[in-house]
Amino acid sequence: MDHFLYCNGILHAEDVPLTEIAAHVGTPFYCYSTATLTRHFRLFQEALDPLDHLVCFSVKSLSNQAILRTLAGLGAGMDVVSGGEYRRALAAGVPGDRIVFSGVGKTREEMTHALTHGIRQFNVESDAELKVLSEVASAMGVRAPITLRVNPDVDAKTHEKIATGRKEDKFGVPISRARTIYAEAAALPGIEVVGVDVHIGSQLTDLAPFEAAFSKIADLTRALRADGHSIWRLDLGGGLGIPYTTSNETPPLPLDYGAMIQRVLGDLDVEIEIEPGRLIAGNAGILVASVIYLKEGEGRDFLILDAAMNDLIRPAMYGAHHDIVPVVEAPAAIDQRPVDIVGPVCESGDTFAKQRQMPPLAAGDLVAFRSAGAYGAVMSSEYNTRPLIPEVLVHQDQYAVIRPRPSFDEIINRDRLPEWL
Ligand code: LLP
Repeated sequence: MDHFLYCNGILHAEDVPLTEIAAHVGTPFYCYSTATLTRHFRLFQEALDPLDHLVCFSVKSLSNQAILRTLAGLGAGMDVVSGGEYRRALAAGVPGDRIVFSGVGKTREEMTHALTHGIRQFNVESDAELKVLSEVASAMGVRAPITLRVNPDVDAKTHEKIATGRKEDKFGVPISRARTIYAEAAALPGIEVVGVDVHIGSQLTDLAPFEAAFSKIADLTRALRADGHSIWRLDLGGGLGIPYTTSNETPPLPLDYGAMIQRVLGDLDVEIEIEPGRLIAGNAGILVASVIYLKEGEGRDFLILDAAMNDLIRPAMYGAHHDIVPVVEAPAAIDQRPVDIVGPVCESGDTFAKQRQMPPLAAGDLVAFRSAGAYGAVMSSEYNTRPLIPEVLVHQDQYAVIRPRPSFDEIINRDRLPEWL
């Protein structure tokens, strides 16, 4: 459930008509709902309530300071994957001991920075990284808390590009080698083993792959304890999927996910961490665009918008579906017609939807892409020198621009001319 509903025939974000925001900030723009973010975060809190737990929001899914601050205020920790995201989390007021650092390619600089300013744990992804982290921490006279990200060789049954838990994926250490690497870790002077980490992929719409992976982690935890390691924290990653269409998808609810975690891991007496991104942010955001032209093609019509693949890359990159709806509600009885919905970028890949049934729309009309809060703004670029689009946060009847549209001068003036030109 989200808080983008029609009221008096106009799509609203909470109590604010999107037509009002569009008139103020211009299109295209991203718009987020505080109530939806809050609701989704709390669903996870409630689902894990019986367990000692921390919900670490996956910053990569939506990293604006206002979003992070909203979630931090609700008690969220943060999952970061770069020095940049770590800095964003700290700047939003999240203390270091609530930040977990994931990712396959952490640099010495990133490790040093996080150890200096505080870290809950590093989720280490290889023995090479383990050794470097130990060196960095030892040189600073500290021990780095770590979990080892284990690759359980489980197929998450999601899109090829976002499955991360099969043995052919670049993530984690093979579960078959985990005990050996934990033994190495325990012997390193700059390392303090605290637990085990796993993340098998994103947009999972079935609990079975999670359960298969978590069962393997439960067995591993018992084996590691028998080997003498003190394993008291399990980081279970993110990945719970969301419905992208209102019609037929019903992914499992956080409550079911939480119940499964309790069933599979509840007797281990561990602290549970999860790293959800999409489920918290996805349906808490929409992208609003205007129609520039209607174009009649050979046997098909095109709806050309002022938003493009550089603003929302998911359809071009993953063939992802986003519901696209008119901001001014079409009468129920109106005839819908199939159109290709495209942006102005000079690539055929700049197509949001093919032969999508839409009510009649004219130049200047507004449309909204639903479920665009996660992996939307964060994956945007300035391709075709199209400025990054503004982000707006709504809270009941108030709204604020939380990232303004840059001017063309700002963009061009970032370039530097060498002295010979
Ligand atoms: N933890 C780790 C280690 C991750 O790699 C990810 C996502 C998450 C947590 C959060 O997963 P979530 O709960 O959001 O599924 N750009 C793609 C999604 C990439 C996901 C990458 N990792 C998309 O637009 O579908």
